[in-house]
Amino acid sequence: MTGCNEANDPGLEYAPEMYTSIPYEPLSQVGANHINPMGINERTPAVGTVPRGKLAYYTHIGKDDVETAAKVLTNPYGYSKTHLEEGKVLYTRNCQHCHGEQGDGQGPVGIKFKGVPNYSAGSYKTMNDGHIYHVIQWGKGRMMPHGSQVNPEERWKIAMYVRALQLGKGPDGLADMVKEGSPMANVPTADSTMTSGQMKKNPTKAGSNEMSKNPGAGDPARNGEAI
Ligand code: HEC
Repeated sequence: MTGCNEANDPGLEYAPEMYTSIPYEPLSQVGANHINPMGINERTPAVGTVPRGKLAYYTHIGKDDVETAAKVLTNPYGYSKTHLEEGKVLYTRNCQHCHGEQGDGQGPVGIKFKGVPNYSAGSYKTMNDGHIYHVIQWGKGRMMPHGSQVNPEERWKIAMYVRALQLGKGPDGLADMVKEGSPMANVPTADSTMTSGQMKKNPTKAGSNEMSKNPGAGDPARNGEAI
């Protein structure tokens, strides 16, 4: 009887501690949290936080804005043999059926699909890593986006291998692209947090241990966007 007076009210709850946790839980909250700022259980991530495998996630470059991507995005991985070979495997799985083993657009699906470009012809020859990265993520024209199939790290590696195919030698171009001594050639995977030109300008910030001015709440002026 006491439980039925209002539709949204469960009425008397017997031993509510059995249903709602007394300790603060990040993903469920019943009352105000008296310890954290703004009374919330789950704190906002520290400014500049980049989740693992989510490089270049917050770049805010429009889907159609490949020009900006080509200018702003820089490949954080070096052209080492290992990276290029990983790129080749990923290309074989995700792109080759259309773009062909040689990168000439003559893959078995590409022939039927039609209009798949040759990477080593005309302006396709000079697409840079950022350009290719963006096209993988968002697609272009008749090519569908592949962002859900390959994560940012994988996109950069595929982009590298596409650069090798631009040489017009097919898979043999890989050897020409290897620059073992280049800076960051052996950067361990998934650990780099620098992705865009913007972040590069301010490399110490993203990974710094500096306290944010408003602990727990992040910096409201910058929340939601990477510097
Ligand atoms: C279903 C076939 C298909 C698959 C799979 C595919 N592409 Fe494409 N790709 C195309 C077509 C078609 C175009 C031409 C798009 C246009 O200009 O309309 C294209 C264009 C491109 C371009 C040139 C973009 C530009 O600026 O004009 C790049 C770079 C590219 N693809 C890379 C890739 C990579 C890397 C993969 C694998 C992750 C991939 N594609 C997978 C069909 C495909």
